[in-house]
Amino acid sequence: MKIRKAVIVAGGWGTRFLPITRSQPKEMLPLVDKPVIQYAVEEAIAAGMEQVVLVTALGKRAIEDYFDRAFELEYYLEQRGEKKLLQEMRNLSNMIDICYVRQKGQLGLGHAVLTARHVIEDEAFAVFLPDDIVDGKTPLLRQLVDVYERYKGSVIAVERVSREDTVKYGVIDPKEIADRVFQVMNIVEKPTPEEAPSDLTVMGRYVLTPEIFDILEATPPGKNNEIQLTDAIQILLQKQAVYACEFEGTRYDTGNPWGWLKATISLAMKRPDIAPDLRDYLKQLL
Ligand code: G1P
Repeated sequence: MKIRKAVIVAGGWGTRFLPITRSQPKEMLPLVDKPVIQYAVEEAIAAGMEQVVLVTALGKRAIEDYFDRAFELEYYLEQRGEKKLLQEMRNLSNMIDICYVRQKGQLGLGHAVLTARHVIEDEAFAVFLPDDIVDGKTPLLRQLVDVYERYKGSVIAVERVSREDTVKYGVIDPKEIADRVFQVMNIVEKPTPEEAPSDLTVMGRYVLTPEIFDILEATPPGKNNEIQLTDAIQILLQKQAVYACEFEGTRYDTGNPWGWLKATISLAMKRPDIAPDLRDYLKQLL
């Protein structure tokens, strides 16, 4: 069955980006002139999704407002004859069907995914952790959906990192089955370099079969006392094959200041209206 729905998880407090995230959702930080969350929504559309389920939480209302109609702004732009900008603003609120569910507490990624269960129901679906942005030829979720369509099982996006960084991520024990495709034999959340089964780590995209929901219902809190999606996938792979896709493209972690800055500069360097000035400015600074 076709993957139609994407869950975008946006309930986290963004502690790596304090103090700005005290009153500003990290998902609304700009990358050049679009908020981080919009890159995820655009990637979902590019991968053929029909509906986005956004998991939000207290303090995240700016996200809902962003994708809503803005009548006063539209009226103002209309009066001033700003036709192009007006069209862009209208397109924003018509991009895709978005519905919102609230995660009432910082109970973990597994819990956030479970919160969307009643909207997803009984079909395979995509999960986005929007901090992770991948810039490449083929949208990241598209790469995962291609693997799903070939192997008909859950698929996780993975990237190789240096051994000392495994402690930040979910890490898989891979069995290679095709170019850049693995069957996941085991998965561990944030292992030390010594415990890590490989250097292939989970990045923020998943395609999951609906069997994950029953497993999540029964998953006790794990690392950091949170309900971990990784722990539920570890049980899932004992019941059905789970795959991993070593994706192509450059990944940025926009959830901390340094990763966000790198993403901002790299994306700005691809903008013909900004790149020449930015290049000159950076040369001047150096
Ligand atoms: C989460 C997942 C982890 C994954 C990471 C990717 O961790 O639990 O398995 O590798 O996202 O960004 P978090 O960064 O929320 O602690």
